Formats: sequence, structure tokens, C-alpha cells
Amino acid sequence: MHDTTLAGRPPSASHLTLSQIMDQHHTNLMGTVHGGRILNLIDSVAGVVAARHSDGPAVTAAIDETAFLRAVRVGDVVHVDAHITWAGRSSMEVTVKVTADRWDRAVPPTDVATAHLVMVAVDDEGQPRSVPPLLPQTDGDRRRYREAQIRREHRLALRQALLDGTEGH
Ligand SMILES: CC(C)(COP(=O)(O)OP(=O)(O)OC[C@H]1O[C@@H](n2cnc3c(N)ncnc32)[C@H](O)[C@@H]1OP(=O)(O)O)[C@@H](O)C(=O)NCCC(=O)NCCS
Repeated sequence: MHDTTLAGRPPSASHLTLSQIMDQHHTNLMGTVHGGRILNLIDSVAGVVAARHSDGPAVTAAIDETAFLRAVRVGDVVHVDAHITWAGRSSMEVTVKVTADRWDRAVPPTDVATAHLVMVAVDDEGQPRSVPPLLPQTDGDRRRYREAQIRREHRLALRQALLDGTEGH
């Protein structure tokens, strides 16, 4: 059940973009940036968005399969743009888009990855707590909300199927 005492909020109220230049501390043996470094940025920014929407801490419950479309290099500026797309009782979906361009803008920003994360608001004991409803305002907000609901149904079905498969083992 949703907590009807909490006032709804639009996605724009918690939207966040972080830009960071990649240096040699972020590289793998190939000399390009670790995928784990990008995932770390995705998780951190999604955590802030979820915390802003819910006025408190939130943990990562799931990150959907994420593909890296191109390598990120030293000297690239990575832009991590995150929106809340859906909110339930205690969980929220945050969608994060990652793009990159060169420090000198020699090339325009290109897509690196898109990730969908399930963040769960937690209390001091680490137990789920209620979050404000999400109030989509634009046509884009409403489309992203509908798409997030479809992904949620798939995640819950997968989780249930995996749990069913482990019964008796
Ligand atoms: C996330 C966590 C708090 C959920 O606790 P729980 O006891 O399973 O709570 P619930 O089953 O009530 O789930 C809470 C919400 O999360 C959602 N949820 C949990 N796992 C999910 C998954 N894999 N996919 C989609 N939603 C999920 C539930 O649907 C529920 O949503 P709702 O309240 O909006 O309806 C708990 O599993 C946890 O602490 N996990 C570790 C998180 C962490 O430490 N992350 C950092 C990585 S180390």
C-alpha cells in the first residue's frame, strides 16, 4: 500500500546530472576506463536521486543488464544523467543515461550506456520505508513511467521464478 500521507513529487524535483573527467586512475589493462568505474558512477548518482525523492537513504536492490556501447578513454568527460521514472511503496526505479565527449569538445557527446536501477528507501534499521508517490508531468515522464512498470513486472516475475526454482534445494 502507498503511504497516502506523503505528498507526490515530479521527476524534475530529484533529477541530477554529474560530469567527471576520466584520468589514468580509472583505466584497465587496455588503457580504457573500467566498466566498474562507470557502474560506480551510475550507482552513486542513482542513489542521490533516490535519496532526494525519498528524503533519506536508499539502497540498490537491482541493476538491470547494462551494455557498454563504446569504450571510454582517459581525457573523456563522462556525463551521468539520472531521473526517477517510477515509485512504488518503498522502491523506486531510477534510469541513468551515460554519455561522453572529449575534454576539448573535439567530438560531440555519444552514448555510453543506459541503466535502470531499483532503489529501496530504508530506515535506520535498513528496513524498507514508504516513499512519496511520483507525479509524472510531461508526456516523456508518463511514457517512462509506463515503461518502468513493464520492467518492474518482468523483474518481479524473474525473482519469483528463481525463488520457485530454488525450493527444495
Ligand atoms: C533491498 C532490500 C532492503 C529489500 O528488502 P526486502 O526485505 O526484500 O523488502 P521487500 O521484499 O518488501 O521489498 C521492498 C521493495 O523492493 C522491491 N524489490 C526488492 N527486490 C527487487 C528486485 N530484485 N526487483 C524489483 N523490485 C525489488 C519490492 O518489490 C518492494 O517494492 P515496493 O515496496 O515498492 O512494493 C534488501 O533486500 C536489502 O537490504 N538488500 C541489500 C541492498 C544493498 O545492500 N545494496 C548495495 C549492494 S551491496
